[in-house]
Amino acid sequence: MRLKLIAIIAVAFLAGGVLAFAMRGEGPKPVSVGTAAIGGAFSLTNQFGKRVSEKDFAGRYLLVFFGFTHCPDVCPAGLQVMSAALDKLGAKAGGVMPIFVTVDPARDTPEVMKAYVSAFHPRLVGLTGTEAEIQAATKTYRVYAKRVDDPGSPGGYTMDHSGFIYLMDRAGAYLTHFSHGANPDEIANRIASLD
Ligand code: NI
Repeated sequence: MRLKLIAIIAVAFLAGGVLAFAMRGEGPKPVSVGTAAIGGAFSLTNQFGKRVSEKDFAGRYLLVFFGFTHCPDVCPAGLQVMSAALDKLGAKAGGVMPIFVTVDPARDTPEVMKAYVSAFHPRLVGLTGTEAEIQAATKTYRVYAKRVDDPGSPGGYTMDHSGFIYLMDRAGAYLTHFSHGANPDEIANRIASLD
């Protein structure tokens, strides 16, 4: 019993030493994730059939979420979280542009996007485009999206995709991201803390 306790203390002491060593900067350096590499220019079509680019949203914070309208769970959850966060922001929500970009342009035409986004929030923008444009946008935002066979879905396929909600600053640069299952308060508070 006592030996075990001594062993635990010894291990803790050792771990502390290693940590202190690493914190002095002599250990292996943590790998830096290049946040500047997330987001950027895009050229897409909104739910009204109008061509838009990142320049159309300059001067506003962006909440950007990628998904597809046939998504059974992740997308509705993410869009509900975004919508709830906007509602919690009150007057400040005007400075934020909520954007839903499809990863499934074959099925998500502007008309389909229009009906879908309006069911979540009146200010939600839905963006689609050609396969090449959507591929470019997902690459820019480092979004994973892959077509998967699914005989039960319309067209015989579904989409696997990552489900992060990106918060971009007024110049379109990456600030942070949230999970699609994040608490709306967390997002609203983060945006409210910006000037
Ligand atoms: Ni989804």
